Amino acid sequence: MSIPKAELHLHIEGTLEPELAFRLAERNGVALPFGSVDELRAAYRFDDLQSFLDLYYRLMDVLRTEQDFTDLAEEYLTRAAAQGVRHAEIFFDPQAHTARGVPIETVINGLGAALDRSEAAHGISTGLILCFLRDLSAGSALDTLESAKPYLDRITAVGLDSAEVGNPPSKFTAVYERARELGLRAVAHAGEEGPASYVWEALDLLKVERIDHGLRCLEDEELVARLVRERIPLTVCPFSNVRLRCVDTLADHPLRRMLDAGLVATVNSDDPAYFGGYVGQNLTETAAALGLTAQQQYTLARNSFEASFLDRQTRDRYL
Ligand code: HPA
Ligand code: ZN
Repeated sequence: MSIPKAELHLHIEGTLEPELAFRLAERNGVALPFGSVDELRAAYRFDDLQSFLDLYYRLMDVLRTEQDFTDLAEEYLTRAAAQGVRHAEIFFDPQAHTARGVPIETVINGLGAALDRSEAAHGISTGLILCFLRDLSAGSALDTLESAKPYLDRITAVGLDSAEVGNPPSKFTAVYERARELGLRAVAHAGEEGPASYVWEALDLLKVERIDHGLRCLEDEELVARLVRERIPLTVCPFSNVRLRCVDTLADHPLRRMLDAGLVATVNSDDPAYFGGYVGQNLTETAAALGLTAQQQYTLARNSFEASFLDRQTRDRYL
């Protein structure tokens, strides 16, 4: 029986398995530039974040209807439950869909239908995190936030993803200020490919409560000291870091160093359909590669609940 855990860094579009992509392509009459599931899977070799994003955005074209988004989330929740996930805070990228003519209500209502059944069907409580694509303009992010206003009761937080280098958190200061006014919590990807200074900006300008990835914080001692002191969680994604070549191999992953430094690290799957496995597999294989003790594995699971946006009473039941 796998240890209960929360998943806090999971892009729902990154759970699109090749089999489902082909099924949806057929259902919606969308042509895919791959002849077979095997051919598509063979394309999952990446040089960096951008080479992954190119395929990730391309494949999303099969997601058209509410039912497609429901099927996508339902498949993820089924897999997550089998790996011990009890709570999931799920990223989605509305701009990647609205740019293709799929309205935000289709996305949110479709995901919402699966999330509404999740506690009863899978024993997983859920939250949605609306992510802004940082390579688009701040104006586009602000328009997206305003368009989500009818659905705020479904949305826990805002996040920031896509191509990091050259798109610093400071670009989105006003957008995050508006999100706070609307009562939303805040997280941001920072220090995945971008420098430690982006992590500082995410904390000081965007006032985020967690850092997604945060790997490159290790290059800045003063930053590490602050993250430790303020118990700001990092949602670390080991398989992703290897597949996108932020880290050479799992055995070279700094997760153990992060724990030894006292950082509140959690393990997550990021885009599990693309990076070779779901959160339980990330935990098991990383623990084996790094020789993590049972106590360290327990700490990671405990951190995942501490770092979550669950209300205190529910959270404390897991701690
Ligand atoms: N980084 C940035 N953007 C993303 C990622 C990621 O790991 N996954 C999906 N969008
Ligand atoms: Zn991510």
